[in-house]
Amino acid sequence: MSSYGALALAIHVLIAFVVPFHVTEATFFPCPCPAPPPPSGAPATFVVYLQDITAQNGTIPANATTVPVAGRQGIAYNLQNFGTVFVTDDNITATASPNSALLGQAQGTLIVTSLQSKYFQISLTLVFNAGPYANSTVVLLGVVNGLQAVRPVAVVGGTGVFTYAKGFATFETVVLQGSYTVDKVTVTYKIRQ
Ligand SMILES: *[C@@H]1O[C@H](CO)[C@@H](O)[C@H](O)[C@H]1NC(C)=O
Ligand SMILES: *[C@@H]1O[C@H](CO)[C@@H](O)[C@H](O)[C@H]1NC(C)=O
Ligand SMILES: *[C@@H]1O[C@H](CO)[C@@H](O)[C@H](O)[C@H]1NC(C)=O
Ligand SMILES: *[C@@H]1O[C@H](CO)[C@@H](O)[C@H](O)[C@H]1NC(C)=O
Repeated sequence: MSSYGALALAIHVLIAFVVPFHVTEATFFPCPCPAPPPPSGAPATFVVYLQDITAQNGTIPANATTVPVAGRQGIAYNLQNFGTVFVTDDNITATASPNSALLGQAQGTLIVTSLQSKYFQISLTLVFNAGPYANSTVVLLGVVNGLQAVRPVAVVGGTGVFTYAKGFATFETVVLQGSYTVDKVTVTYKIRQ
């Protein structure tokens, strides 16, 4: 290859890989969200925030994103009562601010699974439809102790860039204002078949 050919190739490679990658990072990585690791790599971690509005003292706000839908007959549907089932559709945002970039929706259920009313089963899918993980999902499952500040659950799988994902995620409530809460969710995962 001539030196011009080598130079042209080098520039081509630079334009094809280095430059677009840089532009992509600046334009589409608001979280900050690293790209998924290679199969043999170390675990990757990213942080997102869930904007949640739920019932308080039995009153469900019109704009609630977590609502009780079922429970034991004759017993109030709330977080204190065993058997209550809530359905959630929270905005996923890039920072704790509700005005930060909207990355998708966290959809699923929360069930009061302990008779002592402290433990909840969380079955929640992070459905990304904007940002670096658009069109991908992360599936979270576990029973958490509602009194713990840091509440871990399993990453049991995913779709898109998270296909074959395995790992864990932690929930931490970082804003608590009446019926409005923001949960910080830290997802740590590997891609493993
Ligand atoms: C809910 O109950 C608590 C404790 O009784 C009270 O301080 C609070 O103001 C109530 N919140 C609403 C929205 O009624
Ligand atoms: C939800 O409704 C409450 C009460 O009307 C209001 O204060 C709050 O700003 C609303 N939140 C959103 C995100 O619409
Ligand atoms: C969710 O995001 C949409 C679009 O930004 C916004 O209109 C809505 O108020 C948000 N809802 C909550 C509960 O934060
Ligand atoms: C998500 O899917 C849409 C529609 O197919 C596509 O335009 C967009 O580029 C995809 N985004 C990512 C990050 O894959």
